[in-house]
Amino acid sequence: MTVEAKVRDVHHVDVGVNRLIVTPDGAAVDLPATGIGSTERRHDGDDKVTGAAKYAGEELPSGTLHGVMVTSPVARGSIASIDTAAALAAPGVVRVITPDDMPDLGAASVPPAAQSYMPMADLTVRYEGQPVAIVLAETLEQAEAGAALVDVRIDARDPVVFETAETVVPETEGNGYVLGALDPARGDFEAGFAGAAATVDQVYVAPTRHHNMMEPSATLAEWRGGELHMHDSTQWTYGVRYALSGMLGMEPGQIHVRCPFTGGGFGAKGYVWPHQVLAAVAARDVRRPVKIALTRAQCYTDTGYQPVVRSRVALGADADGKLVAVAHDTESVSSQFDDYIEFGNAGTRSLYPTPNLALTTRIRKADVGTPTAMRAPHEGPGMFALESAMDELSYELGMDPLELRLANYAEVDPANEKPFSSNRLREAYAEGARRIGWADRPMEVRARREGSRLIGTGMASAIMSTFRFAAAARVCLTADGAVRVEAGTQEIGTGTRTIFPQIAAERLGIDAEGIEMVLGRTGLPETGGTFGSSSTISVGSAVAGAADTLRNRIAGLAGGTVPPRDQWPDLLRRNGVSELVGEGGFQLPGDAPFDAHGCAGDHSMHTWGAVFVEMEVDEALGLARMRRCVACYSAGRILNPVTARSQMIGGIIWGYGRVMLEESAMDPRYGRYLSQNLSGVHLPVNADIPQDIDVAFIEEHDPYASAIGVRGIGELGEVGVAAAIANGIHHATGRRARELPIKFEALMS
Ligand code: MOS
Repeated sequence: MTVEAKVRDVHHVDVGVNRLIVTPDGAAVDLPATGIGSTERRHDGDDKVTGAAKYAGEELPSGTLHGVMVTSPVARGSIASIDTAAALAAPGVVRVITPDDMPDLGAASVPPAAQSYMPMADLTVRYEGQPVAIVLAETLEQAEAGAALVDVRIDARDPVVFETAETVVPETEGNGYVLGALDPARGDFEAGFAGAAATVDQVYVAPTRHHNMMEPSATLAEWRGGELHMHDSTQWTYGVRYALSGMLGMEPGQIHVRCPFTGGGFGAKGYVWPHQVLAAVAARDVRRPVKIALTRAQCYTDTGYQPVVRSRVALGADADGKLVAVAHDTESVSSQFDDYIEFGNAGTRSLYPTPNLALTTRIRKADVGTPTAMRAPHEGPGMFALESAMDELSYELGMDPLELRLANYAEVDPANEKPFSSNRLREAYAEGARRIGWADRPMEVRARREGSRLIGTGMASAIMSTFRFAAAARVCLTADGAVRVEAGTQEIGTGTRTIFPQIAAERLGIDAEGIEMVLGRTGLPETGGTFGSSSTISVGSAVAGAADTLRNRIAGLAGGTVPPRDQWPDLLRRNGVSELVGEGGFQLPGDAPFDAHGCAGDHSMHTWGAVFVEMEVDEALGLARMRRCVACYSAGRILNPVTARSQMIGGIIWGYGRVMLEESAMDPRYGRYLSQNLSGVHLPVNADIPQDIDVAFIEEHDPYASAIGVRGIGELGEVGVAAAIANGIHHATGRRARELPIKFEALMS
């Protein structure tokens, strides 16, 4: 009715689609009307804005008990006693589960378990916010009231925090978080640096931040006939199955996980956190469905965070700007029980060649929960450091910052000398420079003023790893002529329900509108997690293969050629077939489950971008605003320019948050985050963001990364933004910010 009408009315926003995909020469590409590359509208858009899409926290089968976790207010200590009497006497409270009630749990490998330490398995307190008991009650309010009555006594000790922890070499043996060598090196950094014509040697800090996804993590666990059924808010249904099967000692096939919609995750829902396990344990204990929906505060302590990364970057260049020495030493925080490694120098390995390289990757173990991937892991915080240092180097050399990047352009991957599967970064630089008007930029700082405001422009390169996962998919044609795509993959807001039907449509030669996408469930063809910008490349390839198989089956039934779509129901009926199914898969070299940036093959795979911004700074007020942003990307084939643009704009705004607003500050005395709700964390809102965010992709078809020409885009959008903005502020004001976020006082005269 009226809601529907309004949704349709506001849908068509002019996003300048004719400029979204450009040829390597900068000419606009005509977009096809249907199939791959068309601006197909979001298939699930109406369901999401009208509330028809149901999330895990909204499900409430009859008999469900609400579980509320009682969490530790201290970061380090041991539980002396837990008195549950008052809670148990409260209205509606059915059960309080304490460490005494916990069964012995098996081990789950890390990942898919996000952290190796399972709270409530013993009486130790290892981080603030750690669950110590769970109150189960008939209503949420009763469970919350009961949780407030649980009397927990903890012998507290002073916590170790990032600032006070020792720097150590992370353990790599058996560590699922190792993505590469810790200390890659070549040549002689010290000699190269000593002989350089210009040098920079600085420390840059990107703080701890939280995902703040719109939908807090939630899980509903139900046991039926000895099998576990979960409706979970996750980025990896199969990961939940594997983690729980290890911990509960069950066959993977006895655990069924569904997640039709995920309300954002950004990495927080990539692996499995304790509340998911605790919900399953509690539901088994009381023989009723149990739902645990984390509070916003619990999302700060119980589902990971992006660890603070301290980078020391030292660059040396010859008089022509060629990098003759590069060092990038990173330190990030991790927990006492897991060596999560934020590879802050990941981008530094592959972006610019240099004969003399020295990188180190270290951690500091503190009394905090295990960190996790957060958009964009590794390259996000790390490239703020490298690309700020490159800007500083350009001023040491008196060389245009873009010219400096071009003087150090990598023709092959410097990390391994492999050719790139495809790379259009040079064209992205050129297109971005054209759009922002870079050629007219004066090198001097404080050169442009409008009234009380100083104006400057800055740029940075972006690079992101390309991850690929093995995947399977099915495309089905039913008796009524309907086409359905099936894959276990998750929908986290990126456009999954739209682009996979587009791929199937193109392969089948039909319209994408009306193709149903069934996803988000174990039991459907197995896929990896929706993270690492890997779903489109992996699942998309499997869908393409499945659609090809189906097409061949249709042709086979019809005697060789595929008839027009309106004849398909008749074709099935005449042949007595009720459903025709095509299966497809995406395999990696050596049948590996996972491949990072093509390391298993002959080609290096990354995505790239060139980010340009125009900043204005009012030094009287300490205010900085982004007036324009132009970002051009080399990311492989783009399946849907509109959903792809949304991804990049989201990433750019996310990057703006990193540089100007966001920081999860910790009180070092207590090891507690000072703010654990959205009112105390500064996130970008519409008023912070300029209308003029201009995104373009260079037309590209990657012949090696996947069968459909795709690499991946999700996390790339965030990379480079922080450095471009900090560099733009420097150009406007002459002030160099090396610590994020950039606060008012750093900009005030
Ligand atoms: Mo993204 S941090 O891989 O969800």
